[in-house]
Amino acid sequence: MKTLIAYSTTLGCTEQCASRLKEDLGPGVDLFRISRRRKINLDLYKTVIIGGSIHEGLIQRSVRKFCETYIDKLLKIEVGLFICCVESGEDEKELLNRAFPDELLSHSLANGYFGGELNFKKMNLLQKIMSRKKARLEEIPEIDFDLILTFAEKLQQPIT
Ligand SMILES: Cc1cc2nc3c(=O)[nH]c(=O)nc-3n(C[C@H](O)[C@H](O)[C@H](O)COP(=O)(O)O)c2cc1C
Repeated sequence: MKTLIAYSTTLGCTEQCASRLKEDLGPGVDLFRISRRRKINLDLYKTVIIGGSIHEGLIQRSVRKFCETYIDKLLKIEVGLFICCVESGEDEKELLNRAFPDELLSHSLANGYFGGELNFKKMNLLQKIMSRKKARLEEIPEIDFDLILTFAEKLQQPIT
């Protein structure tokens, strides 16, 4: 049975991370961009990985809705969860905890944070204004590809 990576992205960063994760996991992985209008049959999958990005402290509403809609099924199969954001340290853990339902977080085999980007070229004016504070971070945020690989390895470890 296959693995599904279901993700939402606002400016393309999470999509990039999802593609990289698919490569790291190897064959048998489908990508699915979450949209409130698209349904998916999770019966085809042994593992479902769900990811999204953080905007003003919250993950996309469509990701929260996806978790709510499929929660019964998700709690019966293997799950991985990840976020993209530019906060680091303790903040990223808190954002992850706020992004997904508690029961899914404790059921999940791997909970990951992959870093993020501030892609001003793709932002509209409002997004530029809203993310201005983040742009004052000491280091320029970037995707952490090593963390994506570690997450993939953790998911592939046999369950003991
Ligand atoms: C309007 C806006 C608000 C954001 N708010 C947060 C935030 O509260 N915390 C954070 O860590 N990152 C925040 N970010 C950074 C995004 O999480 C980061 O740009 C991420 O890589 C976006 O992924 P995406 O392109 O898949 O949507 C914000 C970015 C924008 C544009």
